[in-house]
Amino acid sequence: MSSPAPKAWSQRFESALHPTIAVFNASIGFDIALIEHDLSGSEAHAKMLAKTGIISDDEAAQLAAGLAQIRQEYQQGQFIPTIDDEDIHFAVEHRLVEIVGAVGKKLHTARSRNDQVGTDIRLYLREQIDVIRQQLRSFQQALLNQADRHLETVIPGYTHLQRAQPLSLAHHLLAYVEMAQRDWERLGEIRQRVNVSPLGCGALAGTPFPIDRAYTAELLGFDEIYRNSLDGVSDRDFAIEFTAAASLIGVHLSRLSEEIILWASSEFSFVKLTDSCSTGSSIMPQKKNPDVPELVRGKTGRVFGHLQSLLVMMKGLPMAYNKDLQEDKEPLFDTVQTVQGCLSAMTILLQEGLEFQTEQLAMAVTTDFSNATDVADYLAARGVPFREAYNLVGQVVRQCLAANKLLKDLTLAEWQQLHPAFEADIYEAIAPHQVVAARNSFGGTGFDQVRQALSAARQRLATD
Ligand code: ARG
Repeated sequence: MSSPAPKAWSQRFESALHPTIAVFNASIGFDIALIEHDLSGSEAHAKMLAKTGIISDDEAAQLAAGLAQIRQEYQQGQFIPTIDDEDIHFAVEHRLVEIVGAVGKKLHTARSRNDQVGTDIRLYLREQIDVIRQQLRSFQQALLNQADRHLETVIPGYTHLQRAQPLSLAHHLLAYVEMAQRDWERLGEIRQRVNVSPLGCGALAGTPFPIDRAYTAELLGFDEIYRNSLDGVSDRDFAIEFTAAASLIGVHLSRLSEEIILWASSEFSFVKLTDSCSTGSSIMPQKKNPDVPELVRGKTGRVFGHLQSLLVMMKGLPMAYNKDLQEDKEPLFDTVQTVQGCLSAMTILLQEGLEFQTEQLAMAVTTDFSNATDVADYLAARGVPFREAYNLVGQVVRQCLAANKLLKDLTLAEWQQLHPAFEADIYEAIAPHQVVAARNSFGGTGFDQVRQALSAARQRLATD
């Protein structure tokens, strides 16, 4: 900037801000991220001022040219505001006056930084939500690609982190596709509430000028306008909703991360991490660490923290704008950056960072008792009341454990001794592949169900 920033506020002030307070007060260090949106908002506002006759067409054209130049300067790295500019709104106005002269001082007619900053954040968040929804789609696609490969791979399923019933690995992965689907839909709903224009609400009470709020809203692609000026300048619900939705994305990514971390341990050995997505230890040469899922799990906590910050920032605010609201930006920006980073990393991890160890998985499901429910189901299907069958199988499992045997090791005579309803087909019924195939209820892990779920998911991705 050539000239120093003029004193930002009116002549009411006799002396300058204490330099430490100036730094404390300034938001330019971070709200520079809003510059492109601030310029778009100002362009729309200037057009509206001309359309309504508040300024002349010629003045509007000069403002537009000045704003375009600032955009170019910024893109070329030549727009470098200082602390004296205080925030992005003053920084742009200051530079505009330098470029176009006195007419630049007309831009702020019928506007306040309060409706201006609200407009900027909404434009910013709308854009970022679109990016995140796209990333969720790629994440789902990566899960689907793995699921395609592993429809018939059988993996132990757990409850309480105890072996429960075997699953199609695709079914397991599709659970995360569903979570991401809700995330995608939720962000779509939140986007509607982000996409409301506060421009024209003024400082808090509207403006005496004959502005056209519908026109600026239309120029900026907003679907609606705030109906109440006080609400318009002080509402940050949309930021909280977004951070809550981002927290849920974090929860989902973190759960998947935790599973991958467990699966990559030598105790599980269900996946091997490839070199492109894992790191080594500085001292233990044998180590290959799952840093990506660990970081995702760790960063999720940060996002929860931002949600808490925003909620607490809002809860005690009287109407309307309060400077506390300046504190909305860093949590919001960091949430966006963190979630975007986590989604990219997890997508790459799914695409090229994991190799499922199919032999280990096959071994795991043939050496446990996760087919015990199926023995009870076998009897129940042959008329034995389920609870009775359940108790019987409990006994067999206990006997097998004592004899260091598995269910499949029992002879037909042993089965029949237990209950006469057992026949030779019991062996087929308790084989892991059949155990999975049998759960063909809607939404279950049966291969036919999973095949249908896979194609339904793929279709959903293709159509919206
Ligand atoms: N930098 C301020 C913010 O981020 C802009 C709005 C300032 N408004 C005011 N009345 N001081 O919230």
